[in-house]
This record gives sequence, C-alpha cells and structure tokens, in this order.
Amino acid sequence: MGKLEGRVAVVTGAAQGIGRAVSHRYAAEGANVAVVDINEEAATAVADEITAAGGTAIGVACDVGQRSAVDAAAAQVAAELGTIDVLVNNAGITRPAMLWKMTDEQWNDVLNIHVNGSFYWMQAVVPAMREAKRGWLIFSTSSAGIQGTIGQINYAVAKSGLLAMMRSAARELAPYNIISNAVAPAAATPMTETIRTDERFKSTYLDTIPLGRWAEPEEIAGAYTFLASDDTSYMTGQVLSVDGGRLMMR
Ligand SMILES: NC(=O)c1ccc[n+]([C@@H]2O[C@H](COP(=O)([O-])OP(=O)(O)OC[C@H]3O[C@@H](n4cnc5c(N)ncnc54)[C@H](O)[C@@H]3O)[C@@H](O)[C@H]2O)c1
Repeated sequence: MGKLEGRVAVVTGAAQGIGRAVSHRYAAEGANVAVVDINEEAATAVADEITAAGGTAIGVACDVGQRSAVDAAAAQVAAELGTIDVLVNNAGITRPAMLWKMTDEQWNDVLNIHVNGSFYWMQAVVPAMREAKRGWLIFSTSSAGIQGTIGQINYAVAKSGLLAMMRSAARELAPYNIISNAVAPAAATPMTETIRTDERFKSTYLDTIPLGRWAEPEEIAGAYTFLASDDTSYMTGQVLSVDGGRLMMR
C-alpha cells in the first residue's frame, strides 16, 4: 500500500519540472492526482503518462493567477476525483531584472502567480478540508525567499510571501488537523536552465552546492511525498531544503 493511498492531490505547475515529478511520485504512492497547469496540452500528456503507468490522474487547464479559473479547476477536480486532500502550490515563473530596471509588469506577474495563485487555491480547497478535519498544504518556496537573491527581487518577495502564507495557514488551520509545510528545492528544470548553462552563473552557483551537482526533479519529489503523508501528523509550519546542502553554506 502506498503512502498516499486514495488521497486526492492537486499539483499546480505540474506539466514539467518538479511538479511533473511530484505528480508521478504521488500517483505511484496511490494518490489520485490532478495535474494542473496553464499549459493544458502538457498537463494532459503528464496525466496520460501516469495513467499509462497504472496510476490515476487527470490533466486540468488552469491559470492560477485568475481566481475564476482556480475556482473552476477546483470544482472540476472535486467532481472528477472527489474531495481534495492535498494541495501542492507549485506553479511558478521568473521574470528577472535588477530592481532599478524591473517593470511593474515583471513585479506584478511574479507576485500574482506565486502569491495570489496559492491564496486562490487555498481558499478553494480549505473549506472542504476543514469539514473533513484533514488536509495537507505544501508550498514550493526557494532559498531566494529565505536569504534574498540578486536580480529577482520579485521572486524573492513572492517566495518569502509563500513562507508567511505557509506558516499562517499552519497556525490558523491546525485546529482542523490541516498540515502546512514547504519545500525549498534546487533542481535541474527548465526554470533553472540559465543559471545551469550560462557560464557567468554556472560555476559560482555550483560552487555553493556542497553535493556539487544539480538534482534531478525526481530527487526532490520524495520530500513532497513525505509532506503529503501521515508521517507529518506532528509536523507543521516547517521548510525542508532539498538543495544539495546549499542553504547550510550561507
Ligand atoms: N528548479 C529549482 O531549482 C527551483 C528552486 C527553488 C524553487 N523552485 C520552485 O519550484 C516550483 C517548480 O519549479 P520548476 O523548476 O519545476 O519550474 P518549471 O518552470 O519547470 O515549471 C513550472 C510550471 O508552472 C507552470 N505555470 C507557469 N505559470 C502558470 C500559471 N499561471 N498557472 C498554472 N501553471 C503555471 C508552467 O507551465 C510549468 O509547467 C516553482 O514554484 C519554483 O519557483 C524551483
């Protein structure tokens, strides 16, 4: 029996990268997974991969930055899979620029997708979790939200905002047995391609990772599985860094 047997899980930003790996692992652990993404075709393809491997998944098109789209997607998942037990707020974008060059659009887009999107999804799923007296909220944050970063003040603020959201949810929802935690990952995905491949960033970044390499998204998925499992029954409001030891070095 899998660690997530029968649980209904929503993973946002699940068409590629970490979200895709988490969706696969959740399904392998027995969860029924909603693969949610703005890229409908790719989300459906991931759901099809899971189904072909013997799991249960549906692809759901949703721009997490639009409340009406989130409400419609949450209703679709509840109708097709049942009450949502696990929400992984993982969808994300980057719009890098030094702060003196950053446009309002770059600032607002990043804040909207990470912060508003996670807020909309929480509001969509928490009422049923409160009633069920169980639920797991998981946030994809970043070392940038903990220690700041250069050239992405919008992203650092968004990821720091998610930590405040995660901890506030942990406090506010603990009486309903809703568990809220976060992962701060570092993985080889399309999002990190520039820092992994551009010579200006590559060696300086890699030098800060004690394990000396980037993770595959599949190596990150275990932390998300743990945080959606009964093993968190006495753990809430925490951040797990899965980053090759990078944050420890700062
Ligand atoms: N990869 C890393 O090293 C790393 C490090 C720290 C934090 N993170 C965080 O982990 C999460 C996943 O990162 P990743 O590296 O897999 O990214 P990725 O770019 O590979 O995947 C992000 C996914 O989010 C989707 N998405 C973008 N905007 C959306 C929207 N408005 N609505 C719905 N879906 C949308 C994209 O289509 C894509 O499938 C992100 O929140 C990211 O900030 C990643």
